Amino acid sequence: MTEYRAKSAYQQTGEADTYDAARFRSLKGRWEDRLEKRAMIMALRDVPSGARVLDLPCGTGRITEFLLDLGYKVVGADISEPMMAHAREKLGDHPNLETLQQADAESLPYADAEFDAVTSIRFSNHVPPDVRLRVLKEMRRVSKGPIIISYCNPNTISALKRRVKALIRKPHAPWNPATPRQVAAEAAQAGLKVSQAHAIIPLVSETVVYALVVQPFTDR
Ligand SMILES: C[S@@+](CC[C@H](N)C(=O)[O-])C[C@H]1O[C@@H](n2cnc3c(N)ncnc32)[C@H](O)[C@@H]1O
Repeated sequence: MTEYRAKSAYQQTGEADTYDAARFRSLKGRWEDRLEKRAMIMALRDVPSGARVLDLPCGTGRITEFLLDLGYKVVGADISEPMMAHAREKLGDHPNLETLQQADAESLPYADAEFDAVTSIRFSNHVPPDVRLRVLKEMRRVSKGPIIISYCNPNTISALKRRVKALIRKPHAPWNPATPRQVAAEAAQAGLKVSQAHAIIPLVSETVVYALVVQPFTDR
């Protein structure tokens, strides 16, 4: 297991307690949240309501709640108990919520093909590329259906702004974007292929929501 900032930073109670308000309370934050969810609805089009979905990492339950409202049976998993405490508070009595479980994405406590789909939003950009591949392979192992995952595209206006800002002030966290070509290559290494890609605002926003589907390994 490799250590990286996002793995420990969100385990701080202070970080968990301010997560939702810091990102999703402003007009811009609410708008981005809506756009991400709109992209997810498109990416989830082949996953029928009632399917069993793993939301990884579930964080404070933002996406978990959205999936539950779409009628999916959901397991939420995250390494951070403080983040999940907020998810428990919001969703603890939701009838479609199976469980919220502490787990490391690099080594998931689930059986092969246990889920109909996996969702993973706002995670890949925090994870170093070698770890990310391991995580993607784990997602593939536990899912018989698509992996709905967001990546940050470096060839966008918001990524350019991020790079300019980084010249002025050292960024507080490492950033691991991936071009669509890099996403396709990484997916192939994990035995997956891109079936859909939805940029939330093409050329402007970094966020792209992909649907990766299982394909047989060709390098074996
Ligand atoms: C930016 S948050 C995203 C949460 C949620 N998906 C969302 O979109 O609001 C990143 C989350 O990744 C979790 N995380 C970091 N490393 C992890 C790991 N190795 N296994 C599971 N969760 C991890 C953190 O605890 C944090 O809750």
